[in-house]
Amino acid sequence: MNIAVLGSGYIGLVTGTSFAEVGHNVVCVDVDQRRIAQLQQGRLPVFEPGLTDLLRANLGSGRLTFTTDLEQALSLCSVVFIVVGTPQRDDGSANLDFVWTVVDQIREMARDEKLVVIKSTVPVGTNREAQERLNTGCDMQHRVASNPEFLREGLAVDDALGPDRIVIGVGDPKSQQTLEELYAPFTQRGAPLLSMEWESAEVTKYVADCLLATKISYVNEMANFCEAVGADINSVRRGIGHDPRIGFHCFAPGAGYGGPCFPKDIRAMRAMGRSVGASMRILQAVDEVNEAQKSRVLEKLADQLGSLAGVRIAVWGLAFKPDTDDIRESPGLDLLQQLLEAGAIVQVHDPQAMDNVRHFFGDDICYGADPYEAAEATEAVAIMTEWPAFQAVDLGRLRDTMAGNVIVDGRNLFDPAQMAASGFRYCSIGRRSVARSLVDVDAIEAMPTTVPTVPTTPTAPTA
Ligand SMILES: NC(=O)c1ccc[n+]([C@@H]2O[C@H](COP(=O)([O-])OP(=O)(O)OC[C@H]3O[C@@H](n4cnc5c(N)ncnc54)[C@H](O)[C@@H]3O)[C@@H](O)[C@H]2O)c1
Repeated sequence: MNIAVLGSGYIGLVTGTSFAEVGHNVVCVDVDQRRIAQLQQGRLPVFEPGLTDLLRANLGSGRLTFTTDLEQALSLCSVVFIVVGTPQRDDGSANLDFVWTVVDQIREMARDEKLVVIKSTVPVGTNREAQERLNTGCDMQHRVASNPEFLREGLAVDDALGPDRIVIGVGDPKSQQTLEELYAPFTQRGAPLLSMEWESAEVTKYVADCLLATKISYVNEMANFCEAVGADINSVRRGIGHDPRIGFHCFAPGAGYGGPCFPKDIRAMRAMGRSVGASMRILQAVDEVNEAQKSRVLEKLADQLGSLAGVRIAVWGLAFKPDTDDIRESPGLDLLQQLLEAGAIVQVHDPQAMDNVRHFFGDDICYGADPYEAAEATEAVAIMTEWPAFQAVDLGRLRDTMAGNVIVDGRNLFDPAQMAASGFRYCSIGRRSVARSLVDVDAIEAMPTTVPTVPTTPTAPTA
């Protein structure tokens, strides 16, 4: 099948590349000329494991092309995917300006009837409105379908090639048939294709993201309680996670969720609720808990160090989760801002997101080439993303590199007893803070070097 993908950002790229991989002919379009020129040369503008290989293989096969020429792209395809951004407006609702721009362009430029598939996350009613907008006063009758995306950044290639489900919202049988053909390579491998009406498909995406974010705020609130009463959230997770109704996924405490989906989708859902008079009290609490959680690391640094003015502090991890360079709504960025406002001297490291951070923070902070360089001469290290490289650091070398010995671990990467034994004052989320002087050092040093922990899952499994 011949497909155009409008919007070559994180999701457009993965969508286009995976459709090409299963044998469709795909042309990806973007308004960003630099991005398209880079992609034509086989260079990814984002970091996503496995995507460069897939991109190059499909460019090589000729099944995947990139252009800024929308009219030409439309002339080549029968199915058009809309995958442009739907950012948050000031009132929390989704801003559909990019969506309406491309809908209007399709209406003006298409020379034959298209199936227009909206993959961008859009509020209820958008597909219906898009169909009206495309066809009112138009000779042709374009069809519209909803096809929300559930993949997780960092795992996007696997998720796109092996989705756990494909949700489509359709307004007519022909659209359903076309999407069944398009997705046949995926459904033949076992992915269920769940067909429903437009509105339900639109709501499905929001309900999924809101539930996942709710789990995170819930575990964070319980973690804070554990800390206050001397319990350990990891033990508690172990105690409940084997219950199949609960599980371990998306239930790891931390410094709050971020990313391109959860924060804005929760707020868009709340705005949709307001518009129809439906209560969204739980989502209000989820959002508030998350905002408060994003200050926990700063509070712990201040508890340990007092005033942070003039204090040198390292921040490890700026991407909103590991295996991506995406910093949208990342709690790490909130911490940078908070530290700068408190007058701290900030040194950072992230394995992939440094260029994106430099774009916002410029010379206000220092950039370390690795975790040790970022930690040099600092009083404290704050950990904001669960990159495996952080967990693998040599603790002795880290201790020698730092001026002080405070570690505030916003992702619970380390075992507290081992950290205390290594000479750190170690604070994490939902577990007791420890320091060498506060624990039985002989007992700790006799402990095995790897302590079994409960499974850690990324705090933000979609997006
Ligand atoms: N990123 C995720 O993890 C994720 C997951 C599920 C759903 N989504 C949803 O998918 C949509 C896209 O998200 P994203 O993260 O890929 O956004 P993005 O910002 O990375 O990409 C959007 C792209 O659209 C391009 N664009 C804007 N206007 C255009 C136009 N008129 N014609 C062609 N291209 C245009 C932009 O230049 C940009 O490259 C959003 O609605 C988002 O909520 C994102």
